[in-house]
Amino acid sequence: MGNESLTITDNRTGKSYELPLKHGNIRAMDLRQIKTTEKDFGVMSYDPAFLNTAACESRITFIDGDLGILRYRGYPIEQLAAKCSYLETAYLLLYGELPDEKKLSDFTARVARHTFIHENMKKFMEGFRYDAHPMSMLVSSIAALSSFYPDAREVHNPEVRELMAIRLIAKIPTIAAYAFRHTNGLPFVYPDNELSYTANFMNMLWKMAEPKFLANPVLAHALDILFILHADHEQNCSTSTMRVVGSSQADPFLSMAAAASALSGPLHGGANEEVLRMIDEIGSIEHIPAFIESVKKGERKLMGFGHRVYKNYDPRAQVIKETADSVFAVTGRNPKVDIAREIEKIALSDEYFVKRRLYPNVDFYSGIIYEAMGFRPEMFTVLFAIPRTSGWLAHWEEQSKDADTKISRPRQVYLGSGERNVK
Ligand code: CMC
Repeated sequence: MGNESLTITDNRTGKSYELPLKHGNIRAMDLRQIKTTEKDFGVMSYDPAFLNTAACESRITFIDGDLGILRYRGYPIEQLAAKCSYLETAYLLLYGELPDEKKLSDFTARVARHTFIHENMKKFMEGFRYDAHPMSMLVSSIAALSSFYPDAREVHNPEVRELMAIRLIAKIPTIAAYAFRHTNGLPFVYPDNELSYTANFMNMLWKMAEPKFLANPVLAHALDILFILHADHEQNCSTSTMRVVGSSQADPFLSMAAAASALSGPLHGGANEEVLRMIDEIGSIEHIPAFIESVKKGERKLMGFGHRVYKNYDPRAQVIKETADSVFAVTGRNPKVDIAREIEKIALSDEYFVKRRLYPNVDFYSGIIYEAMGFRPEMFTVLFAIPRTSGWLAHWEEQSKDADTKISRPRQVYLGSGERNVK
């Protein structure tokens, strides 16, 4: 095997094993040959929360957490945010290359053709309580879509998979907007397919009696940038969920409902909502030091800070911070940004955060922009889920074509009772 291998000595038996390295990693299954007796199950790796386990090979997104680098299909996130639209980025994630003009216009037209949802879906959504959380409505509605597209179960058919991906990318803003309108007691607004992806979403959110809703182009562009930044982030909790559920060959609507459920948690996509609540609770700059002290005592977390992978500034947070000014030029300055910047300043110079390499993540500034645009915190995670749809589907598609794919099924270390009898 030459140098591309690892030699492991089992001190229990004195035996040595040479395990091949591929791309610098061992296959966990190769550990199973390490046994004390023939009947022994063999060694496993114990890795709750998958801190050091690669569950797949992927060619979609690259992150260097130490250097604060994020690239989709090799393109730096900063360049995509500056030069591309969200739909171009979604195409890139799904197909591997940026589209030329013709491919983009075909893709855009295809997405536009599928923006409407069945009228019975509308009735389904009307059934939610007036105070239902928009993420709960989103998750349940994505799952409900499965019942409208029985052909989605043909997960081995690449054309069906592609059509379902287009459907999901097209319909998710419609469902998200309907959830928002329901919360506000407003009638649903049908999609306007002459508008861009984000401008149409804003139309479905905010159109009232005017014959045509035209979104402010600066705000539509800022939302588009935010969508690009949130489109993918390799094997995070929700994407891994998409892959795990998808590995059972469940249809993409059901797999994505599971992924969106994972996103809703406050340690994942739900953090943006928590950041705003935290800033509201802090209230003013003079209360920040006391708040930081309570974080350091372990009484609470500084939401929007820290990341499993980034041990440096999250590059998405940097772009969001820069986008904030263009939004505030239209909406007026959200004073919460001053509290956020002061929290960042204090935290980045405090030993607790420096030592643990805790920096602002994508969720730290996004909510402040969303709030300035007119969204309440309950909608923030929904705004995360809309663009992440393309990332989830890109991973689902990649997994569908991967010869290594099998149903996900981790092992456990059983520590419970041995056999005993019921008396
Ligand atoms: N505030 C205070 N302390 C923190 C924080 C925080 N936000 N994050 C991590 N720590 C501490 C943690 O207590 C631990 O300290 P010690 O070594 O003394 O026990 C140390 O830093 C390492 O943290 P960890 O919990 O082992 O790190 P993790 O990789 O398991 O968790 C995380 C990552 C993102 C869940 C965590 O940093 C966190 O809970 N952050 C706040 C929630 C948040 O902003 N989530 C959004 C993540 S980015 C977007 C997304 O994924 O959707």
